[in-house]
Amino acid sequence: MAKATIKDIDIKNKTVLMRADFNVPQDDSLKITDDTRIKATLPTIKFLLDNGVKKLVLISHLGRPDGKVVAKYSLKPVAERLTQLLGQQVKFVNDCVGDEIKNEVSAAKEKVVLLENLRFHAEEEANDPGFAKKLSELGELYVNDAFGTAHRAHASTEGVTKYLKGVAGFLLEKEIVYLNDAIKNPKRPFMVILGGAKVSDKIGVIENLLPKSDCILIGGGMAYTFLKAQGKDIGNSKLEKDKVDLAKAILEKAKTLNKKIILPIDHLVVDNVDPQAKTEIVDIIPEGKIAVDIGPKTIELFKDALKNVQTVVWNGPLGIFEMDNFSNGTKEIAIFLTSIKAVTIIGGGDTAAAVAKFKVEDKMTHISTGGGASLEFMEGKLLPGVAALSEK
Ligand code: 3PG
Repeated sequence: MAKATIKDIDIKNKTVLMRADFNVPQDDSLKITDDTRIKATLPTIKFLLDNGVKKLVLISHLGRPDGKVVAKYSLKPVAERLTQLLGQQVKFVNDCVGDEIKNEVSAAKEKVVLLENLRFHAEEEANDPGFAKKLSELGELYVNDAFGTAHRAHASTEGVTKYLKGVAGFLLEKEIVYLNDAIKNPKRPFMVILGGAKVSDKIGVIENLLPKSDCILIGGGMAYTFLKAQGKDIGNSKLEKDKVDLAKAILEKAKTLNKKIILPIDHLVVDNVDPQAKTEIVDIIPEGKIAVDIGPKTIELFKDALKNVQTVVWNGPLGIFEMDNFSNGTKEIAIFLTSIKAVTIIGGGDTAAAVAKFKVEDKMTHISTGGGASLEFMEGKLLPGVAALSEK
């Protein structure tokens, strides 16, 4: 990556302001249920500590509190988890800007300090220059390791770099390298698996990756708008009526470009989306039925298409995998990917959650920590949080 990283700058005895994405899921008692994003920042944090930073000031958002202080979105549980993971005390400070906070940070005896949720201030998401300047006053250098938030042009990801030299941390660097290599310079055959509920969420990805890839496999709720566009019966399955013409145009474009789009040929259907619902496998979806997963013939079709592939990018589950009875298609394909010799890149969000549910996360080449960010990257968009960093 042409952007400067923490290896390109002198950090010794400097106070470093580091943006992380500690937007982690929690249960009702605020216990962190998945600390992947916290663990993913450890290489950067440890490198900074091992190389003699004076102080490390960590900033992040959690949830969408909309500019207000909302207790359940406090980053305090993250400070506690980080303390355990690092094996050294992380001081938690209950706000993120202002003179008092600056003083509290510089007086802290702990080397690592985590400040309270940036989004308790509306100025963060508004990318307010005054707020960005205040943030910049907390450090002498800025490190961005928040790949998951790199698609947001916020004060802590973009604005702050107007006042402080910004470089990438190892997680941000790694994400960009893997996604870039897979998409811009893939070993071929290069196939894309797309799923998830809505075509509208994936239009940008299809438009960007159809010409670049050799084949796109489509499952999940979004497949049914495509099947409708082919004149197939889809019963009461998920349909975006206003996207049928677009789906037709995409299928036509694929033909013109001589690229394959493979759609499901059989389906697991139910009368209503209920985890206990009676299921049935059909080739043609009867009236009133709802498709909730790809069927066994489709699983074989997808596996056959994937067997000699060199690069796979996967974004979006192939059925309602959260419900065990409807998870088989997603599970079978996830497990199959671990048996082939291919670079396997998993988009974040739901696809990462699915791969984790089927316990194959260690066998994938790369699982992105960014849901929206990896999607925007796959759409070919420049991520503002990355663009704002200094060149090497
Ligand atoms: C994410 O979870 O995708 C990131 O943390 C960004 O969160 P946001 O969608 O609320 O900006």
